[in-house]
Amino acid sequence: MLLSCSNSHYCVVYPPPLSKNLREAASLLIETAFDYIDQPIKEHSENVANLSVSISAELGLTDDQINIVWAAGMLHDIGKSKIPREILNNPHHLSYNERWIISQHSEEGYNLLKTAPCFLGSIIPEVVLQHHERLDGSGYPWHLKGSQILQESLIVSLADSVVAMSEFRVYRPALNQDAIIREVTQKSGSLYDPNVVEAYLRFLDKSAYQLNSISHRQALH
Ligand SMILES: [Fe+2]
Ligand SMILES: [Fe+2]
Repeated sequence: MLLSCSNSHYCVVYPPPLSKNLREAASLLIETAFDYIDQPIKEHSENVANLSVSISAELGLTDDQINIVWAAGMLHDIGKSKIPREILNNPHHLSYNERWIISQHSEEGYNLLKTAPCFLGSIIPEVVLQHHERLDGSGYPWHLKGSQILQESLIVSLADSVVAMSEFRVYRPALNQDAIIREVTQKSGSLYDPNVVEAYLRFLDKSAYQLNSISHRQALH
């Protein structure tokens, strides 16, 4: 089933079986935290969540896992609410130090979510913590490798990368869908989990989905 997605660049092929409590908790957190951030990051997060759900459904994940992946997709960059706005909104090339400060958002997000009563006992904070880890250990913050990385994080990681590639950056134009497919296929097995990449490609085939180029001034991933 293809849901309409007037506001999103990612249509969901399968309706996400989201639990009402989780959706409300995640939405509240996002509204609160992202009051301090600009709209593009919120839109970026919605796109990542929707694409993560589509990939998860393609992988045959359980409803519970899909709920987790959706919430983690929505919240993956929530730690950016702790990063100084002047760095997040810097329209120019970032210095090494500024990039390091931004890279702290994974751990900042983990710390925020870990203390949220609604996520007690949930792996959502860990999924957020690991969303910039890469299969070959080249990611951050812990340089985890392969099976050390949660499957849910591998899904959010690919969705985050795909959405980010579709967004404009000061140092490169937005990539079109063909270029994105080439990139993730090339990096399958090194940066990205091959099963997740295949699920993403199957999703594209099934949905005949066309990625729109979007121009984000400051939606850094
Ligand atoms: Fe991120
Ligand atoms: Fe992101």
